[in-house]
Amino acid sequence: SRDELEARVKEVKEKYGSRLFIPGHHYQKDEVIQFADATGDSLKLAQLSAENTEAEFIIFCGVHFMAETADILTSKSQKVFLPDMRAGCSMADMADLNQTERAWDKLQSLFGDTILPLTYVNSTAAIKAFVGANGGATVTSSNAETMVKWAFEQKERILFLPDQHLGRNTAVQLGVGLDEMAIWNPISDSLEYEGDFSKIKVILWKGHCSVHENFTVQNVIDTREQYPDMKIIVHPECCREVVEISDLAGSTSFIINTIEKAEPGSSWAIGTEMNLVNRIIQNHPDKQIISLNPHMCPCLTMNRIDLPHLVWSLDTIEDENNNNIIKVSSEIAENAKLALKRMLYHS
Ligand code: 13P
Ligand code: SF4
Repeated sequence: SRDELEARVKEVKEKYGSRLFIPGHHYQKDEVIQFADATGDSLKLAQLSAENTEAEFIIFCGVHFMAETADILTSKSQKVFLPDMRAGCSMADMADLNQTERAWDKLQSLFGDTILPLTYVNSTAAIKAFVGANGGATVTSSNAETMVKWAFEQKERILFLPDQHLGRNTAVQLGVGLDEMAIWNPISDSLEYEGDFSKIKVILWKGHCSVHENFTVQNVIDTREQYPDMKIIVHPECCREVVEISDLAGSTSFIINTIEKAEPGSSWAIGTEMNLVNRIIQNHPDKQIISLNPHMCPCLTMNRIDLPHLVWSLDTIEDENNNNIIKVSSEIAENAKLALKRMLYHS
């Protein structure tokens, strides 16, 4: 029963004390997040991993790329576990290393040594390693502007992997024109751009988040019509058209903090993952809060981590043959760490 499972988590947490650390991303289910030792957006969870030198066992409640990042940023003796290995991220899977190497070769032949690669942390460790080895850095939704500015101090152009929307939204924010952005299509191995290539400043990888794609311009129009006073706040993984007509855009922590600071009685429509929207609704009975898309949008892979998986992974942390350990190979980890450290230094 649920009570038994909850009692078991408490028991194991008590037994291990600070030898065990459970970070939880804001998109996790309530049944899991209640047991997190720390919650955060991707940036905070990466920072916490880099700082935590004490925990022997890190049970990462989030998705695969986040657990990989935690493994890269912790020491060899610390073990990172993902309670369900199927908890991937469809966006991270939209850029693989072969595709990236092919893209890089072609871009080098077109632009020479004028491009710096940047990757959203929502990418595999292999992509982070590729970026790190080529002088670039990772970014999260909370420091993308800083990192894109940093990149333009090094090179004339950037290749932004794998989320075209975060890349485009950030570039627009920094004054880059839409006519200065091209799209790299990893399926056809070609650049989508009409015009003179020398104008291109930002090359956006053609990837996206299938959850945030569900927030549309029509949702914004409908919300404004039905609730004229409502403020609209979205995650920058939403497309540019949606971000531009919303009131605010930012990371999961930015969304939480904004609503926390908002006036009692204010009303908000939020464009991000369902578990977080529901939690914000519960935590703010004094405010009127809805999902920007009335059909609540879940991230199915985040949701694979549930209470039974958490209990099972806690019960097996000392098993020799544990299959849920996330271990990034040392060559990949070394270069990926370069990319992550460049970001952490600037955050
Ligand atoms: P942040 O928590 O960094 O805003 O990222 C959201 C996300 O989609 C994680 O997959
Ligand atoms: Fe990946 Fe989107 Fe889920 Fe975030 S919400 S983990 S980007 S699929």
